Amino acid sequence: MLRLYFNRIPHKLNRVNNVFLSTTAKKGILFKNYLSAVGSRFDFITIHGPTVDEVTKDIDLSNKTCLITGANSGIGFEMAKCLSSRECSVLMACRNPYAANIAKNACENSHLLKLYELNLASLRSVKKCSDEILKEQPKIDMVILNAAVFGLPWTLTEDSLETTFQVNYLGQYVLLTNIEHILAPDARVVIVSSESHRHVSWDFNHQLTPTEAMVSLPEQEYTSIRAYNISKLCGIHFMHYLSYRWVNSGKSVFCAHPGSFVKTRLCRNWWPYELLYTSMKPFSKSISQAAATPIFCATSPELQGLSDIYFKDCKRCEVSDLAQDLHLSFRIYDLTKTLVRDRVASSTDADAVRVKPAVAFPDVDEATLVANYSG
Ligand SMILES: NC(=O)c1ccc[n+]([C@@H]2O[C@H](COP(=O)([O-])OP(=O)(O)OC[C@H]3O[C@@H](n4cnc5c(N)ncnc54)[C@H](OP(=O)(O)O)[C@@H]3O)[C@@H](O)[C@H]2O)c1
Repeated sequence: MLRLYFNRIPHKLNRVNNVFLSTTAKKGILFKNYLSAVGSRFDFITIHGPTVDEVTKDIDLSNKTCLITGANSGIGFEMAKCLSSRECSVLMACRNPYAANIAKNACENSHLLKLYELNLASLRSVKKCSDEILKEQPKIDMVILNAAVFGLPWTLTEDSLETTFQVNYLGQYVLLTNIEHILAPDARVVIVSSESHRHVSWDFNHQLTPTEAMVSLPEQEYTSIRAYNISKLCGIHFMHYLSYRWVNSGKSVFCAHPGSFVKTRLCRNWWPYELLYTSMKPFSKSISQAAATPIFCATSPELQGLSDIYFKDCKRCEVSDLAQDLHLSFRIYDLTKTLVRDRVASSTDADAVRVKPAVAFPDVDEATLVANYSG
């Protein structure tokens, strides 16, 4: 009896083991399938996209000149590095001369890069920068309006406009319109945009009569995300307006969304954003992949003859309903013109006193620059 009983135990154990093993194996397979499904979804959304070097492969950019705003950092720097490595002359319009010089020296063909000081939060600085560009450059083939801020507390610029709005949109509008007449006949302008433009909602009355307070938010209505979204929406309307103005001219203009949660210095202004972007880093594009879409728009021969298109992942993409409204584009253009005209008119007298003469960036070695910068 006892022997019989003990003889059965291994069978029982085996049966239990078999069941356990088979369910574990099934779970394992299910888990593996799940991972590969998740993986392919990430594949599809963000992780794999061409890098900036891949999209410029085989494109001849020698004898071309490209102006990039905010070219010392993140996506702008990646674009400057790539274009200069392909023999394109790059005009880096940057706020911080020291950081810009370090960035320039980090590029392979640094002799092809030229620095211009530009603080988009100051219309005087924008004017000074555009005057210098006009004085020194006979022709510009590509312009990439890339500079931006995000996550700032509410502040007003010296021109009495909300900072995010002025830096991300209005300052770059002024820069481009100032240098418009030296754009090559087949020039391309790329406005670095964002999917966040989709989150703006304005009611019908506001759409009919946009006001300063809708775009340059007063403190009580301000959140940094809201201001950023509005600035990016204005950028898309600027694209519509420009392509209307340049119809049949050979010039074209595109908007490009580089990717979401790309870990650059954009999120540095508020630690929760820094934390969020850092934790999203494994799932988002690399900086080189993020730079690919704007560079594709600026250089791809496939886009010859096209204009007024929003790109994401190097593919054409619909913009939000609010961003499609061409009537709104004209109204925002009129509003922008008024905002600029009022400010330029009121600053003309003061300019003579306040604007310092243009100073060329010194060619200082990196160690000195780092010392000065940190000091
Ligand atoms: N990173 C993302 O996930 C993401 C997503 C969607 C769209 N984008 C867009 O991609 C573009 C590039 O951003 P990024 O991620 O590369 O950020 P980033 O590393 O912070 O670069 C922004 C650049 O703008 C410059 N800038 C800021 N304020 C300026 C001012 N007042 N005057 C002149 N230049 C100024 C910065 O100069 P300083 O170094 O002197 O500050 C910097 O060079 C932006 O248009 C951004 O909206 C980024």
